[in-house]
Amino acid sequence: MTVTIVGSQLGDEGKGGIVDLYGDSADVVVRYQGGDNAGHTVVHGDETYKLSLVPSGAVRGKTGVLGNGCVVNPETLFEEVDALAERGLDPDVRVAERAHVILPYHRVLDGIEEAEKEDLAAGTTGRGIGPTYEDKAGRRGIRVGDLLDADVLRQRLEYVVPQKRALYSEVFGGDPDDPELDGAFDVETLFERYRTYGERIAEEGMAVDCGAFLDDRLEAGDDVMMEGAQGTSIDIDHGIYPYVTSSNPTAGGASTGTGLGPTVVGQGEVVGIVKAYLSRVGTGPLPTEMGHVEGQTPEDGGDTSDEAEEIATYIRDEGGEYGTVTGRPRRVGWLDMPMLRHAARANGFTGLAVNHLDVLAGLDPVKVGHAYEMDGEERRSMPATTEQWGRCTATYREFDGWEAVDWAAVAEEGYDALPENARTFLEYISDELDTPIYAVGVGPGRDETVVVENPF
Ligand code: IMP
Repeated sequence: MTVTIVGSQLGDEGKGGIVDLYGDSADVVVRYQGGDNAGHTVVHGDETYKLSLVPSGAVRGKTGVLGNGCVVNPETLFEEVDALAERGLDPDVRVAERAHVILPYHRVLDGIEEAEKEDLAAGTTGRGIGPTYEDKAGRRGIRVGDLLDADVLRQRLEYVVPQKRALYSEVFGGDPDDPELDGAFDVETLFERYRTYGERIAEEGMAVDCGAFLDDRLEAGDDVMMEGAQGTSIDIDHGIYPYVTSSNPTAGGASTGTGLGPTVVGQGEVVGIVKAYLSRVGTGPLPTEMGHVEGQTPEDGGDTSDEAEEIATYIRDEGGEYGTVTGRPRRVGWLDMPMLRHAARANGFTGLAVNHLDVLAGLDPVKVGHAYEMDGEERRSMPATTEQWGRCTATYREFDGWEAVDWAAVAEEGYDALPENARTFLEYISDELDTPIYAVGVGPGRDETVVVENPF
């Protein structure tokens, strides 16, 4: 069977921990969208592994597949594979021949386009994700399969690189031959480098026809986990466009991004990962936001009262909501139910995993954005345009708070050992979304998850 793991909010819901937990029962873990804009930490024994592209299951001896819906930076791929090998692992990683390749010019263009967009900038990760998906849709992309055939690779580069050179110089006024760019816009340099990647992919038998590969494994009785990256509200179709990523983290992406039919995905389970509050890296509105992060919160956004700023800081400190690279505070807000109702419908969740419940311990009351008010009317789900969303104000429900307890002991004992007020909060979420709770994350460690149900 398949189990699909989907972020129900804005990314960073703690999917990695749940993938890691349930992934133990899977034989194959496949990513179906995104690229090295994701990031997860896997703790295995005494070792900590930080991965942004390779599926975390590869650390635990599972077959890790990057599906056709992914965008693959071969440099990151091999850096991660080599780093795992150096630490004594022998990861089994496959890459879909139909997946698109991130080239150096995509990264260069990601940065300058963001700078040009000003207020419309999504605050991208700068990894070239958007420009690569643009080329995919524009039918000028280069796919993993193209790296395996020197003639095809050359032909594709000779077609696309002059266009990128013109874009860089004519539109953005840059010099494509600037030595600092390290050949990002040079056919020969790119050909040599990417041909070498192709040879390695071929030598190591990494390239697969993803749908056929997964189908064979399912036929053989294996269990497949589909690992979504990012989250529903930054989905290019169902998210807060244009402040979104360029792929479909929603469950439909698990079908198009792997080559398994929607009926195959639908016969399995779709588990929505919910963070007990919101955090956001990037720009755009956020109706339940507390506090104000310079450069990301809109001018008139965020509750800037002393109390809200204080709670925001508390959540950031308890939840480690600071950029891993920059150390910058992330935007935070109360749980947003209209966002979750939208996610439950768009994904058809069969179960929920609610993470970071421990972070809210010590707050009283714990608030939840239960509905929105927009133009004098109540709304229970997200509106379709981001401008409308920006006009929504949240109406809140309040829950009595709970204190911190020995969370590892609670995880061991099970759901009923959770503080009663925390259970009331969880049952409200479950009732509102008409979806059972499968797991509750109460800490960062692997043994700090209350498992109610294993979907496999
Ligand atoms: P991109 O995916 O780099 O193009 O970035 C587009 C938007 O998605 C930006 O607002 C990013 O902050 C956001 N984003 C991309 N990946 C992640 C993620 O893994 N977690 C949270 N936000 C993300």
